[in-house]
Amino acid sequence: MSKFTTDPTRYNKTENEPFDSVLNKYISRRDVLKSGSGIAALSMLSGFGLLGCSDDDNDSDNSGETSVTLGFESIAGSKTDAVVVAAGYTAMVLAPWAEPLKSIASEYKPDGTNSSVDQENAMGMHHDGMYYFPIDGSSTDGLLVVNHEYIDQNALHPNGATRDPDTGLRNDAEEIRKEIFAHGVSVARIQFDGSNWNVVKDDPHNRRFTGATEMVVSGPLENHELLQTKYSPDGSIVRGTLNNCGNGFTPWGTYLTNEENWPGYFVNTGTRTEDQVRIGLDDEDTRYGWDDLAGDPTEVDDEFARFDVTAKGASALEDYRNEANGHGYIVEMDPYDPTSMAVKRTALGRVRHEGCVYGKLVEGQPMTFYTGHDARFEYIYKFVSDAAWDPDDANPSNRLATGAKYMDAGTLYVARFDADGTGAWLPLTLDSVTTTGGMLGDTFSSLAEIILNTAGAADLVGATPMDRPEWGAVDPIDGAVYMTMTNNTRRTETTNAPNPRLNNAYGHIVRWEEGDSLTSFTWDIFVFGSPADGDADTNRSGLSDLNQFASPDGLAFDSRGIMWIQTDNGADAVEEYTNDQMLAVIPKDLTDSSGTKQVINADNQTSLRRFFVGPNGCEVTGICFTPDNTSMFLNIQHPGNFPYDTDATVETPAGMDIRPRATTIVVRKADGGPIGV
Ligand code: FEO
Ligand code: CA
Ligand code: CA
Repeated sequence: MSKFTTDPTRYNKTENEPFDSVLNKYISRRDVLKSGSGIAALSMLSGFGLLGCSDDDNDSDNSGETSVTLGFESIAGSKTDAVVVAAGYTAMVLAPWAEPLKSIASEYKPDGTNSSVDQENAMGMHHDGMYYFPIDGSSTDGLLVVNHEYIDQNALHPNGATRDPDTGLRNDAEEIRKEIFAHGVSVARIQFDGSNWNVVKDDPHNRRFTGATEMVVSGPLENHELLQTKYSPDGSIVRGTLNNCGNGFTPWGTYLTNEENWPGYFVNTGTRTEDQVRIGLDDEDTRYGWDDLAGDPTEVDDEFARFDVTAKGASALEDYRNEANGHGYIVEMDPYDPTSMAVKRTALGRVRHEGCVYGKLVEGQPMTFYTGHDARFEYIYKFVSDAAWDPDDANPSNRLATGAKYMDAGTLYVARFDADGTGAWLPLTLDSVTTTGGMLGDTFSSLAEIILNTAGAADLVGATPMDRPEWGAVDPIDGAVYMTMTNNTRRTETTNAPNPRLNNAYGHIVRWEEGDSLTSFTWDIFVFGSPADGDADTNRSGLSDLNQFASPDGLAFDSRGIMWIQTDNGADAVEEYTNDQMLAVIPKDLTDSSGTKQVINADNQTSLRRFFVGPNGCEVTGICFTPDNTSMFLNIQHPGNFPYDTDATVETPAGMDIRPRATTIVVRKADGGPIGV
C-alpha cells in the first residue's frame, strides 16, 4: 500500500524527524508515516508576505515604476583570500559548511573529523542557490534555505576519500554517508541581533534535506511504474535530492531547489535507456564512487546499491534500474512547515536544471516558470500552468497543495530562437509536430515518457541549442526575462543568432519578452561578457576594467528592479584581473525616451557596476534579500583558502592554510540603509 494518498495532506509527515533519529537510522526500517502533526502549528507563525514587499520599496503606488539609481561606485577587481565589497558596506560570514543546525551535531572541527551524524544535522557543503523566507514579513528574522551543490572530498574528510589500495574502490561507509549528507538543502532560522545575523541553533524549523531524504513525486510521473524500485515498489517514494544548483521560489512561500548534474551520481553498466544516453548517465563509473559500497555489511535499505541503476533482477521490483528516474527535477519545499516532505514537480521537465523562475503574475492568466538546462548546446524551457493565477494563493492555507495547483498540470515548452529577434515556444506533448513532420507521439507513448527524456523530445521539435543556460530572472518592472548563457568553448563551428560567438569563453545574457500568444516571444542579447581589452568581436558590450566579467551564472532581480549578476569564471583573460564577482545594473535605465530597450554598450558602460569580488578560487553564487533590501545574502562556493575571520573582508594571513568552507555572506550597508542605492 502506498504510504501516501493523493489528498493534499500527503505532503505532511506526521512527526518531525526526531533530532536523534539519525542514531537509529541504520538499525531500523523506515517509520511508517502517519497523518497529522503537532508541529504544523509552527507554520502559522510564518506569514510569507512576498506580495507585500512593494510596501517596503519605492513603489508606493504599486504602479510597477520605481525610481532607484545605483548609489555605489564600481570597485576594481581583486585577487586575494578575502572578499571585497563596495565602499560603505560590510560583509560577514554566516552559516558556513558544517555549522550545526541542531545540538546533536558537534561544532565544526578544522581537521575534517566531523561525523556523518554531525553532517546530517549541520549546514551542507558547497552552498549555491538560496532564498530568504521572512517570519511574519520580518527583515530581521527569517528562514535561510540553501542549496548544497556538490562536495570537495579533500575538504570534507581529514585526508580526502579513502580507497582500497588494491581495487581503488571506496571502502568506508561512514565517509560515503557523510558525503551523501553534505548534499541537498539546509533550512536555517536566522536572526539579526542589531549587529550581526546568526543561526538560531535548534530552532524547530531547522532541518536538512539530504541525498538520502525520502521525497514524493508529483505530476506526470506520480506513482508511475517508471519509478518503481525494490525500495519503493509502488513508485511513490524517491530518496534524496542531488547536485542542487540554482534555485527558485514561489509566490505562495515555498522554495524550489533544482537538480543539475545528477546523472553523474548513477551508473548503468548494462544497456542504457535512451534517456540515459541522451542525458549522459555513465556506463562505467559514478562521480564519487558511492555505489562501490553496495553490499557493505552496514548497508541499510540498499543505501549505496541504489546508485547502480543496472538492470540486475527479474523486474524493476528487484533492483534499482528506475532509481535515477526520480532525479532531474524541480523540487518544491515548504520551509515554514518542518513536517512537510519535499515534492518533485515532474511536469517542469527532467534535465540538468539550473534555476527556476516564475514569470510576471497576472490575475486570471496562467503562471509561467522558466528553467534552463545547463550543458553545452542545451535548451531553455517554459512551463505554463493550466490553472489561472489567483492572488489569494499568495497566502494559502496549504502551500504545497497550492504548488500542486500551479506546477503539476500544464504544458512544457522549449524555446526556438529565430534570427529575426522573434521566437517560438514549442510544446512538448504527444501531438507536437517534429521537424520531420511526425509527432512526438510517434516516439513517446505517454507524457511521462516525454518528461523522462525531456531533452530528447526537445531535439525532435527543433529547439535552439544554447551556450549553457544557467539562472533566469524576471524584471519586476516590466516582466522581461533574463537568462545567463555562461560559456561554451566547444562552439567551434556553428553559431546561431542567440549564441553568436564562436569559442564563447566569456558568456552572455539573453533577454526575452512574451508575445501576444503563449507560444511567441521576442528576444535580444542584453550583455556580452568579455575582458576589457578584448577585440571588437569579443568585447561587444564595451566593458572596461570596472565592469569586465566572464561566465555569468547566478542572476536575480531585487524588488526594486536592480539586476545582480554573479560569475563562475574560468576564462584566463578576465581571471588574470579579478576573482569571481557580482555586478549590478538597472535594466529599466537602459530604455530610451521612445521606450526602446538598449543593450549595455560603450556609451553607458558605467551603468553596469562591480559591487563585490569573492576570494581566490571561489565562484560567487546564490543571492537573496530581506524584504526591506537592507541585508543581502550571497554564497561563496569552493573558495581556496577562506574564510579566516567572521569579517569576510579580512584576508587569510600569508602562509596560513585553511580548510576551505563554502559560506553564506551577509552584505549590509554600514548605516543600515537599503543596499545598492
Ligand atoms: Fe551548477 Fe550550472 O552551475
Ligand atoms: Ca551555477
Ligand atoms: Ca556555473
